[in-house]
Amino acid sequence: MIEPRTNRNLALELLRVTEAGALAAAPLQGRGNKSAADQRAVEAIRSAMAVVDMRGTVVIGEGEKDEAPMLYFGEQIGNGLEPEVDVAVDPIEGTSLTASGLPGAISVVALAERGSMFTTHVHYMQKLVVGRRAKGVIDLEMPVEWNLRRIAKAEGLPVQELAVVVLERERNQETVAQIRDVGARIKLITAGDVAGALEAALETRFGIHCMMGSGGATEGVLAACAIKTIGGDMQAKLYVRDAKERELAVKEGHDPNKVLHLDDLCSGTDIFFAATGITSGELLKGVRYEDIYAYTQSMVLRSASGTMRIVDAYHPIEKLRAKGLLPEQVFVR
Ligand code: FBP
Repeated sequence: MIEPRTNRNLALELLRVTEAGALAAAPLQGRGNKSAADQRAVEAIRSAMAVVDMRGTVVIGEGEKDEAPMLYFGEQIGNGLEPEVDVAVDPIEGTSLTASGLPGAISVVALAERGSMFTTHVHYMQKLVVGRRAKGVIDLEMPVEWNLRRIAKAEGLPVQELAVVVLERERNQETVAQIRDVGARIKLITAGDVAGALEAALETRFGIHCMMGSGGATEGVLAACAIKTIGGDMQAKLYVRDAKERELAVKEGHDPNKVLHLDDLCSGTDIFFAATGITSGELLKGVRYEDIYAYTQSMVLRSASGTMRIVDAYHPIEKLRAKGLLPEQVFVR
């Protein structure tokens, strides 16, 4: 249990962290350089985290999969004071979206009590996410049609009216075909399935009822942290691509065939989640430069209160330049 006063402060601290990540990445929007954008976001998140009152350990992140400049597994972050927490982080969730200036990239971090988050070096997870109304009716082991019919019933809709988010990948083609066979609608996304999962969990706000298919394991844990706060349901399973990954999962103490429920992905009860838009998407608006300000929009969740905050912030451009979050050579005005 994280002490309640600290708890409150942490939520806002975390907001500053993802704002910094988004503000650092945004100047590189559309410039075609994924790793430079990632590098800037990682550095900004690292320094913003360094002053947060916490003894954080990164238990799941992105570095290894993307050969990104890390916030590596096991990295200690925070100023070393209480509370002791697990950290899941993706400085840019959607590096390719950022590099191409496409919608839907976010900067995202979640914290929960130490030892409460699922951790793995396996890259992918199969995921099934639904909103509150369909909580408890899904089963990842059952066929797509079985799940869609039950979700439709729970939503009070004909199955053809369901909208399902799927990450557009070769490995998800079979799922897409099965959804089409049932007749439901699909929103294919090229990247960014944390946002996709949240849109499904918040089904009444976004008109999306479900997310299916496989995506990053880190993104799965991040989404689970948020869904535990906002409601909805999620099941996942490690998606092992070969014998080596299966061995890795087993070595980590995981059963690759096990269906992971929300509490397996994050057993914590004091969860904090923050995400800030880098490029505008349906979930969050991206960074914009308006007159003397850089504008950000973020989502902040705190499980103790169940509050979801959508925070608009205006950051003086001059101060961002002074902090190195906006390089001199980037002309925004
Ligand atoms: P990044 O944070 O690495 O840019 O991830 C983007 C993303 O699309 C995630 O949303 C998704 O879970 C994952 O990549 C899927 O991985 P891959 O692109 O290797 O299929």
